[in-house]
Amino acid sequence: MRKREIHIVGNWKMNQTLHEISQFFVEMTKMKMELKCKAWIAPQAIHIPILKEIAFTTGTIQIGAQNCCEHDSGAFTGEISPLALADLGVEFVIIGHSERRTIYKEDNELLNKKILKALSHDLKIIYCVGEALEEREANLTNNVLEKQLREGLANFPVEKSHLLIIAYEPVWAIGTGKTASAEQAEDAHAFIRSCLPHDSEETIILYGGSVKPDNIDSLLRKPNIDGALVGGASLKASDFRQLCSSASIAM
Ligand code: PGA
Repeated sequence: MRKREIHIVGNWKMNQTLHEISQFFVEMTKMKMELKCKAWIAPQAIHIPILKEIAFTTGTIQIGAQNCCEHDSGAFTGEISPLALADLGVEFVIIGHSERRTIYKEDNELLNKKILKALSHDLKIIYCVGEALEEREANLTNNVLEKQLREGLANFPVEKSHLLIIAYEPVWAIGTGKTASAEQAEDAHAFIRSCLPHDSEETIILYGGSVKPDNIDSLLRKPNIDGALVGGASLKASDFRQLCSSASIAM
């Protein structure tokens, strides 16, 4: 029996049309198994309301956002308000994904502000951390993770620790087809758990980076891996279903 519930979180990034979304849910509802894991999806922000509606009808999947602003409202053209997300009944928000860190130059200080603002609305946070290939090769993985956690989670209110989820996503494994081995991921997860600013035994730590139906089982066998943040393989209902099915068996 596992201590923590397994979460399979689909990060759809900037993908899916309305037609593809409806096909996805038609396929998902054919799933005959009872889900024993948490199945979450973060679509593009523009699609959140429609996914909330479909998810409400099908009753299996919870919906979140891929990013949010560090402010609630005001003159921030193009940003996603955490207040508006909470108002829509969104369950979680991903913060600090490596694409936000590298393409949009979001640093730990900004991510910390986003985390604290989203928490003020009781949104669950999936805070992403992970090292680049050069950092791993230079033996700096733990230094990078420790800094991302210390700075990103500064002033984290301990009474909200149940709202925190960490995603360990080595940058070199995202969208590349190269997964970290289950052992590499387990080492990083155990280290992350030891760095958290509160009693971390309850904290869900997800692995992300080229997770697919054929590598999920070995990852989920590790005691500190509590699920996956999945990009590419979450876009196809058949793969997403299979990931959820593996997670349900591992529970
Ligand atoms: P991937 O993406 O599964 O396509 O590697 C993971 C992520 O970016 O969260």
